Parts: sequence; C-alpha cells; structure tokens
Amino acid sequence: MTDDTRFAPLLRPELAALHAYAPAKAGAAIRLDANESPHALPAEARARLGAALAETALHRYPDVRATALREQIAARENVHPDQIVLGCGSDEVIALILTAFSRPRAGRAKVSVLFPDPSFVMFRLSALAQGHSPVPVALDEAWDLDVPAMTDAIAHHAPHAIFLPSPNNPTGNLFARDRIAAVIAAAPDALVVLDEAYGPFSGVRYDAEMSSNPHHVARLQTLSKLGLAAARVGWAILPRALAREVDKVRQPYNLNALSQTAASLCLGELAPFFDEAVRAIVAERARLAAAMAAMPGVTVSPSAANFLWVEVPGDGAEVYRRLVAKGIVVRSFHASGGRLANRLRITVGTAEENDALLSALPACL
Ligand SMILES: Cc1ncc(COP(=O)(O)O)c(C=O)c1O
Repeated sequence: MTDDTRFAPLLRPELAALHAYAPAKAGAAIRLDANESPHALPAEARARLGAALAETALHRYPDVRATALREQIAARENVHPDQIVLGCGSDEVIALILTAFSRPRAGRAKVSVLFPDPSFVMFRLSALAQGHSPVPVALDEAWDLDVPAMTDAIAHHAPHAIFLPSPNNPTGNLFARDRIAAVIAAAPDALVVLDEAYGPFSGVRYDAEMSSNPHHVARLQTLSKLGLAAARVGWAILPRALAREVDKVRQPYNLNALSQTAASLCLGELAPFFDEAVRAIVAERARLAAAMAAMPGVTVSPSAANFLWVEVPGDGAEVYRRLVAKGIVVRSFHASGGRLANRLRITVGTAEENDALLSALPACL
C-alpha cells in the first residue's frame, strides 16, 4: 500500500475527481483573471486603515460573532443582525450553508444543489466536497436562465439549495428579473440564494425578492470584488431561523480580527474610496468593451459586472497562450469545450492595464 492509496478507502469518494483550487500563475505582469479590483487604496486611506489595524487586539481572540460588523451590515441592508452569517469570503459561507443542509429529503439518497451552467465553480465544488449532488442547468443562448429547464430540474431533483449569481460569473449578465422570480416561485421548498458578488457593478439589488419571500430566499455578498479580496470577508443574509442553524456549523473564530476591522472601515469611513473604484471600473468596462467589440471577429457580451465575457475568433486556447506570452493573464474557458471553447473572461483592469490588453490583443487573435 503506497502513501497515495492508504487512506483512499476512508476519504469522501467525490474527492478523487476534484483538484485543489489553483489560480493562474502569480507573477504575470498584468492579472485580469480573478475579478479582483485593480485599484489599491490611496495612501491616505491606507494610513487610516493601518492605524485602525494597529489598534486591533492581536493578543486576544476576535469577536466570535463579529458583532460590530454584523450590525453595520444589517443597518446597511435593513435586516436583523441575526440574519447575517459571515465567513472567510463568501466561498466559506457557501460551504457553511451546504454543510448545514446535509440531510437528504425522505426517499432520496443525497442532497441536490442546483445552479446555472456556466456559473461560479464553487457551487459545484462545495456541493461535491459535502457529498451532495450538483445539478447544473444550462443557461439559454443569451446566457439567461432557462426557466422551463430550471423548473423541470427543481421538480426532478428537489434541491435543498439553488444558487443564482446575478450578475453571473463568468457570463457577466444580469438574469431577467421575471425569470429569477419564476425560479423562486417554482422552489418554495428550497433555499434560493441570490448571489450579489458583482452587484455593486450592476446597481441591481435583490432585497425586494428577499423581503417578498422571507422564508426561502437568501442573498450572498462579498467585499472581494470591491477592493478587499485579501481580507476574505463575505456573508449571507438568511431567513433568521436558518441563519441560527448555519451559524452552528461555523468555526467560532472564522473571521479574524484584522479582517473584521478592515471590513468595517471599508463599509464605513473608507466607503467613498471603494465607491470611487467601482465608478472607475464601470467607466473602464464601457471603454474596454467598445474597443474590443470593434476588433474583427470579437464579440463582447453585455456586462453588468467587473469583467467582460468575450468570444474570440479561432482557437481560444491559442489566444489565451499568446496573451500569457505577452505578460497578460485572463481566464480562458477552452477546457470546458462546447460553446465555451472560444470564450475568455477578462477582468476590467486599470486604464493602463486595459490599454496594454487592447494593444496586445489584435496580434493574439
Ligand atoms: C458569483 C461569485 N460568488 C462568490 C464568489 C466568492 O467570492 P469570495 O469568496 O472571495 O467572497 C465569487 C468569486 O469569484 C463569485 O464569482
């Protein structure tokens, strides 16, 4: 028995087909692959943040319930603080929800988790890591929700949770609001999680959907796309009774004190800096989209997010490799094949980074 196989019979069988998350090679000159904000905080904001972090009591465990931050978010979102479950990024919150939802429905062997395809990879990976069944449902030809297909899948799989990111990653579009409403209406026995990770770039919020369906709709939010990716702060706004249960599977100190402080400042006195970065990204998004759409054979989908969903002519894998050779990393979907084979997801960078992309791209097509 080798060390590779010793514990194989004891491990969750789904792990054999999974890989640990591996982002693109660090070190490339221009990183447009991870949907981060390209804007570091200006010096005066960093000084203020540094002073606040220096005051953080590092010799003590952090506030176990991140009380101040939860209350701040609750006030901003007009919900009760007990509805909020914070995590080390919304990735962790997705995992917490799926950990709590571990009892299969009567007569079924497994828990099902439904999400559109393509969408954010962690819905599938997190479901598999819990031993649940992922149920991807293909988006229609305009990358919108295919309501009949979703309704069929809901009836057939009786999912515990349905994740709907809008704007969607990687397609960048908002799902039609009446289609989201139709999915919510078709799934009264499931938790429908409206993932607003890219909401600040779209101006659309789903508070009305949640308040009119208070018992089975949740919202997921994160600071990662706004300029605080390194701090790893995300949260869910859940129906209160469910939040109480999900909070029981959370590790007590999952959100460290430095991140709590940084997040509070980001939502509070430093908010104008983060808001300004969002405005700059939205303006650059329009410029970048128009310039790329003018390149022969390139199609740019309408984006409400901080990235563009781009179809290139010819071999997507080759275009990706040529860009990497010029020091620009984007996210390619060639490995998925089918209608994603020639698609790139390109994060909106700074004006300089976008200029570099625009001058490099034509020779890579
Ligand atoms: C739709 C969506 N939801 C959630 C996340 C997770 O963000 P984080 O864990 O950084 O909060 C991402 C990250 O790419 C995403 O695209």
